[in-house]
Amino acid sequence: MSRITRHLFVCRNERPVEGRPSCSARGSAEIFAALQKAIGGRQELWGQVAVTPCGCLGPCFDGPMLVIYPEGIWYRAVRPEDAAEIVESHLLGGRPVERLRHDTPDQDED
Ligand code: FES
Repeated sequence: MSRITRHLFVCRNERPVEGRPSCSARGSAEIFAALQKAIGGRQELWGQVAVTPCGCLGPCFDGPMLVIYPEGIWYRAVRPEDAAEIVESHLLGGRPVERLRHDTPDQDED
């Protein structure tokens, strides 16, 4: 029996255009879809990885943001084309994608 061993949270927060940056305005819906597609393409991950849209994670200026638990690895400025590398390197290979890491998120959400 499989169980969820990793959980990805993708910020999908929306704000008015004139406000602080938001991950939705920077394409987080496309990132969410790309992650779902990349995970769906790897049968060995089915039933073991959950991808959930979430509200603001805090470091809005560095977004789009993504965090993966249980490791607590944060990724910044993620693009849809990064999804396959996150799945292959991090989820399957156990090696976080260093070029996208954001280790010290400030939690100054509003
Ligand atoms: S809006 Fe995405 S981290 Fe704040």
